[in-house]
Amino acid sequence: MEIRDNKLFLGGVSAEKLALEFGSPLYVYEEDTLRQRIKDLKTCITYPDLRIHYACKANTNVTLMRILREEGAYLDAVAPGEVFLALRAGYKPEQILYTGNSTSRADLEFCKQHGLLVNVESLTQLDTYGEMNPGARIAVRINPDVGAGHHGHCITGGPDSKFGIYQDKIGDVMDLAGRRRLQVVGLHSHIGSGILDLSIYLEVMDIILGLAQEFRNLEFIDFGGGIGVPYRPGEKPIDMPSFGKAVTEKFSAYVKKAGRQMALAMEPGRYLVCEAGFLLTTVNNVKETPKHRFVGTDTGFNHLIRPMAYGSYHEIVNASNVQDVRESVVVAGNICESGDVFTRDEHGPVDRELSKVRINDILAICNAGAYGFSMSSNYNSRPRPAEILVKNGQARVIRRAETMENLLYGME
Ligand SMILES: Cc1ncc(COP(=O)(O)O)c(C=O)c1O
Repeated sequence: MEIRDNKLFLGGVSAEKLALEFGSPLYVYEEDTLRQRIKDLKTCITYPDLRIHYACKANTNVTLMRILREEGAYLDAVAPGEVFLALRAGYKPEQILYTGNSTSRADLEFCKQHGLLVNVESLTQLDTYGEMNPGARIAVRINPDVGAGHHGHCITGGPDSKFGIYQDKIGDVMDLAGRRRLQVVGLHSHIGSGILDLSIYLEVMDIILGLAQEFRNLEFIDFGGGIGVPYRPGEKPIDMPSFGKAVTEKFSAYVKKAGRQMALAMEPGRYLVCEAGFLLTTVNNVKETPKHRFVGTDTGFNHLIRPMAYGSYHEIVNASNVQDVRESVVVAGNICESGDVFTRDEHGPVDRELSKVRINDILAICNAGAYGFSMSSNYNSRPRPAEILVKNGQARVIRRAETMENLLYGME
């Protein structure tokens, strides 16, 4: 992203021009940023047998998934639909780790048919899968009794979390896997999403590496995703070189001591795609109450739910007038709910200083690449926007905008 003549440019293309040509609202992704993030991660973690499973729940656009595959990513899938898209994006079944949650027998059957490695996350699932596929290779998701994340909804470890098999049940895992003749080839944990202090990640590595001693046939250990990115001004980005060094040293020391070959796996979602994405929206409306100046846009929580779901902060840039007098506004959506406000916290609207906003200006909501489009909906029967990839001044459609006809799908 850069500024030229007071206008915002993404991948070398003017944001205003993108909105004019492809419509508003519009999701835009910078290809260079996407490629750079996975390269950065690979540069920081120098352990030779590293597998970066892209957690595609963050963004399942097939073109983006394909680009990450070209950069050497494996894949983390949580549902058959994600597997379907990953296969279309060219991932091979053996590159996909399937980590379901409250997984049905039908989903397990799907995994078996597609030759996927299943990461079981309950004793019930272990038993069912063992009965369906005796002798299979599996991974086991552990809840290490520790969790972290940018919001309570995103903490996936500890006693309040529904995820994984609690660490004190390892004996049961071994017994059941033995009875069902399942080979545990992978150990996994994922403690939460949007973690900016990764010291906890290293603590969890110690816990999982401690448990790994119990399993003889491990081929990999997967420490999950969760690497955070700064959203708010003042939030510090993670020192990735130090983090990568610490992870590499810890794992290498373990492997050396244990005297066995093992791959180091991770599952970043947000880190890989968040900063590449922007949601462009047009200002339709400005109005005042005794408390706030509301700027009304042509998108809402149907297209980006994070502010409404978690009170999340997203930087907003007036792409049509980047540097001007600052004014205090509340940026709101066009959905018929009071919570549909982009500048907010968990309690309600929060004023934000924006460069002077005029009707028809294009606003860019930043850091929208992760959990943006993939969590979008048709609420209020508004079609989803198009997705565009930009690079070197060129733009191309990587998903067409939905039409009104799409709203009728399956009903007539
Ligand atoms: C099992 C698993 N792995 C990886 C991720 C990716 O997390 P993040 O996007 O924070 O890296 C998630 C997200 O919740 C997850 O549930």
